[in-house]
Amino acid sequence: MVENLNELEKIVRKCNKCDLCRTRTNTVFGDGNPNAKVMFIGEGPGADEDKQGIPFVGKAGKLMNQAFLGIGIKRSEVYIANIVKCRPPNNRNPLKQESTACLDYLRNQVMIIKPKIIVLLGSVALKNILGEEYGITASRGKWIIKKDIKYMPTFHPAALLRDENKKIDFWRDLKKIKEEIEILKKSDI
Ligand code: URA
Repeated sequence: MVENLNELEKIVRKCNKCDLCRTRTNTVFGDGNPNAKVMFIGEGPGADEDKQGIPFVGKAGKLMNQAFLGIGIKRSEVYIANIVKCRPPNNRNPLKQESTACLDYLRNQVMIIKPKIIVLLGSVALKNILGEEYGITASRGKWIIKKDIKYMPTFHPAALLRDENKKIDFWRDLKKIKEEIEILKKSDI
């Protein structure tokens, strides 16, 4: 366990625990407020993220930014990371061995940031964090509380690009998250 995010990021930059290190341009460690109460977890970097080293800067990220703007969630008040820190070739899902190798970094990020809420974006994030028995369609929109953290599974923004009908549910889920953020802010005063 490393105590601060900068140290951890330096370690991740040199990581060669799985084969994704061979094809990456940049590692994509995480972005946002290191003191965030809310953490968003995606799947893994795509082409744009791999180029820039920042999560959710491509098409899916832009859609998420728009939704944040509409609902009043600031990207600068949350922290965003992924299950795997390196781009899987052709944007395929991370293999079990790749996500297992990478998960300790994410666990370490969670230990440092200590979020109260974790938003799981899509099936890969949901299954890797809460377990294979969870399915995104049945779980989305419902709070799941484990070890003092409130988890909210919702659709991955890339799924909204493929199916417009999912947007309304994604929006509803973000609204629940926003409400919870407001409650947290009040209880902090
Ligand atoms: N999709 C993800 O899951 N993560 C990113 O950072 C970008 C796209």
